[in-house]
Amino acid sequence: MALREILHHPDERLRVKCKRVGSRDIGLHRLIDDLFETMEHARGVGLAAPQVGVPLRVTVVRIPEDYDDPAAGQDIALINPEIVKSTGEWEPDEGCLSIPGYVANVRRNWAVTVNARDRRWREFRIRGDGLLGQALQHEIDHLDGVLFVDRLESPDQLRPLERTRDDPAGAA
Ligand code: NI
Repeated sequence: MALREILHHPDERLRVKCKRVGSRDIGLHRLIDDLFETMEHARGVGLAAPQVGVPLRVTVVRIPEDYDDPAAGQDIALINPEIVKSTGEWEPDEGCLSIPGYVANVRRNWAVTVNARDRRWREFRIRGDGLLGQALQHEIDHLDGVLFVDRLESPDQLRPLERTRDDPAGAA
């Protein structure tokens, strides 16, 4: 495993519409391992392949262990993820490892259902609400070249991040 460099906005590689992964690929396991390691090092809750310059529809998510979510602490790798159902709305604080130092309230669905393949190329379905739902939407946006700032009505909505205690920012 290796840490990879996280690209920062406005790098154009963050704006690519990523390609679907066509079949099992021998580089995929290493990419997924590196995404997890890089995400953990950056204390994020998610990281998408284009954030490390790889234009493929691959992303990882891990909700912090102490978070009240059935998926807390689980490593979730998603290949070719697609949102098949969205319900509810909220506007949580959101940050991005590619836009360090800023957060904003972003309008998201409360819950999403996502179909994807796992790293063993098995199809699976995951439903996430709250932070998990938010992270899934944020990561799938990355695969389409969309950043959370695109979802704001005005850049004035961005606020400098104030880290309190050791709280992870929840950036992805
Ligand atoms: Ni992000």
